[in-house]
Amino acid sequence: MLNDKTHLEKAEWDETEARQVIEQFTGLKGGLMEALHGLQHAFGFIPKPSYDLLADVFNLSKAEIYGVKSFYHDFKSEPQGHHVIQICQAESCQARGSRALTRHVQELLGIKLGQTTHDGHFTLEAVYCLGNCAVSPNITFDGKLHGRMSEDNFDGLLKKVAL
Ligand code: FES
Repeated sequence: MLNDKTHLEKAEWDETEARQVIEQFTGLKGGLMEALHGLQHAFGFIPKPSYDLLADVFNLSKAEIYGVKSFYHDFKSEPQGHHVIQICQAESCQARGSRALTRHVQELLGIKLGQTTHDGHFTLEAVYCLGNCAVSPNITFDGKLHGRMSEDNFDGLLKKVAL
């Protein structure tokens, strides 16, 4: 069975912890980026209440904080699942079947791109070129790149994780 401890459980808001993370980077050049990385590491995403703390500490508006956070796709707005699957949606992968593969994976997991399963096990994301176009279609599964991904190969991969 899958590991029961999910990132969703880890993600509970804790203002004291958030303050401790943010205050380490007060007054440092590039401190905001470091603080965002710190929050993402601590909570698995950037919790909304942390925008107020960041705005205070770095003397910026909440809109400016949001702008920086949104520019970098690695900073997540929601808790991520225990396993993160990314499917390439760019041209070369689309030409070799990534749309059908995406439909298959969505049906299998019962979620759409950009969503996380209710049990917190899987997050499904779109990416746009993983630099591996020669062996399209490509996915990453927990950060590991897999080329020439077919529906059968994906099912096999999922079975291994689910054992
Ligand atoms: S288009 Fe998918 S890896 Fe380049």
